[in-house]
Amino acid sequence: MSGTLGVSITWLGHATVLYRSAAGKSVLVDPWIEGNPSSPPAAKDLKSIDVLLITHGHSDHIADAVAIAKRCHPDVACNFEISLYLASRGVERLHGMNKGGTVSLRGIKATMVQAIHSSTIQDGDRLIPAGEPAGFVIEFENGTRVYHAGDTGIFGDMKLIGEIYKPTVAVLPIGDLYTMGPMEAAAAAKLIGARHIVPIHHSTFPALTGTPAELKRRLAVWPDFEVVELKPGETAS
Ligand code: NI
Ligand code: MN
Repeated sequence: MSGTLGVSITWLGHATVLYRSAAGKSVLVDPWIEGNPSSPPAAKDLKSIDVLLITHGHSDHIADAVAIAKRCHPDVACNFEISLYLASRGVERLHGMNKGGTVSLRGIKATMVQAIHSSTIQDGDRLIPAGEPAGFVIEFENGTRVYHAGDTGIFGDMKLIGEIYKPTVAVLPIGDLYTMGPMEAAAAAKLIGARHIVPIHHSTFPALTGTPAELKRRLAVWPDFEVVELKPGETAS
């Protein structure tokens, strides 16, 4: 698919997603590259990242945040607690925020929204509380809005996120066990109302059983939706 999404979306495996705007800005969400079994070669040498967004503290979302922040000097938006943690590790340009708030970073707007999940940071043998998990609505310079749900179960206020922000793309976890599976993700798509659904957080390990094929099957009867299936390293725009 080309040119219909309003933004370029590259799946870097598991929950790591790279967005590139038409104006040339890069937004990286939830970096997990070293140790990510589904990380493609393209993820190894990310050079220019303008904005780094972190949805919650679990290692499969934050493991490479410090290294990438120090190498690429992006503006970093995350919840307040994670911003304190990252500051203690020497990360700069931090924007600690909370749900309902919007930051405007290098022309990109990021609004922190609800997610139903947990959030802790594992630091050696310590478990650090890492605030509440979140999703983001990302608005690019051309007005394209993406709802990047983060790790979450389905919740009724996804309908509100759809009504208020009117995203045309929803990036949803479908792997099951830790997040929604395809059945819930299909119902979530209907609540949100975004035409293009990009499934992530699947196929990384055998425990994640939800598949894009199952999501497609469940959404097939709804012509309003298009599942944008990517393999790790692939891009849709
Ligand atoms: Ni998680
Ligand atoms: Mn996760």
